[in-house]
Amino acid sequence: MKKGPMLYEGKAKQVFATDDPDLLIQHFKDDATAFDGTKKSTIASKGVVNNAISSHMFSLLAEQGVPNHFVEKLSDREMLIKALKMIQVEVIMRNVAAGSICKRYGIEEGRVFDEPILELYYKSDPHHDPLMNTEHVVQFDLCSLETLDEISGYARRINVLMREFFRGINVTLVDFKLEFGMAGDQLLLGDEISPDTCRFWDLKTGEKLDKDRFRFDLGRVEEVYQEMLSRVTGA
Ligand code: TMP
Ligand code: ASP
Repeated sequence: MKKGPMLYEGKAKQVFATDDPDLLIQHFKDDATAFDGTKKSTIASKGVVNNAISSHMFSLLAEQGVPNHFVEKLSDREMLIKALKMIQVEVIMRNVAAGSICKRYGIEEGRVFDEPILELYYKSDPHHDPLMNTEHVVQFDLCSLETLDEISGYARRINVLMREFFRGINVTLVDFKLEFGMAGDQLLLGDEISPDTCRFWDLKTGEKLDKDRFRFDLGRVEEVYQEMLSRVTGA
């Protein structure tokens, strides 16, 4: 597999072409941003941790019948992925109240929802990723209603599978973000699944084991990324 030019650079990742037009290389950086990119720094070895955790989660989900873009882990910071045409929607699943849902609706952090809440956000930095509903997604031609139904089905199923997995390593899966894309006419889960894109609380102590430690200057940032790496991979 020959690595080609960089096609895209985001806040935490880079994407490179390969000699196969259907395959790309996703490279995980240590760069960390929060609050719409207004807070910026690096978290040592975050790229290595997020690549390893994402590789593990994508493999697990594929085994459980959730199709995704992961092909193989190539190195510490790189994975081979299928090329996707990304749907510009961020899907958030929430089991426990934290972050923006608390701020937006004035509900207390830690409230456990009877049923997981699925939210849709428009993936658009200039518009600050606004919350949207099904009608916005369809009317703005981001994807069809049928595709959105399929996405919601996968998101709920992924939540069940991931909650179970994380409970097994003494972690409460509070919430997480998913992004999907099309490989031809096949819908696939894409992006990453990591402490950047999920909220993880220790099951017993409630300690935050995710990017909130960076967002809110809680300290022990690198340490909790390493802690999640060892819990997820058993290393
Ligand atoms: P929120 O509470 O800030 O809306 O975040 C919900 C979840 O989504 C949380 O696990 C962090 C993740 N997330 C991202 O992955 N990217 C983002 O840009 C934001 C705002 C949240
Ligand atoms: N990474 C996102 C940003 O910089 C937000 C976040 O994860 O909190 O806007």
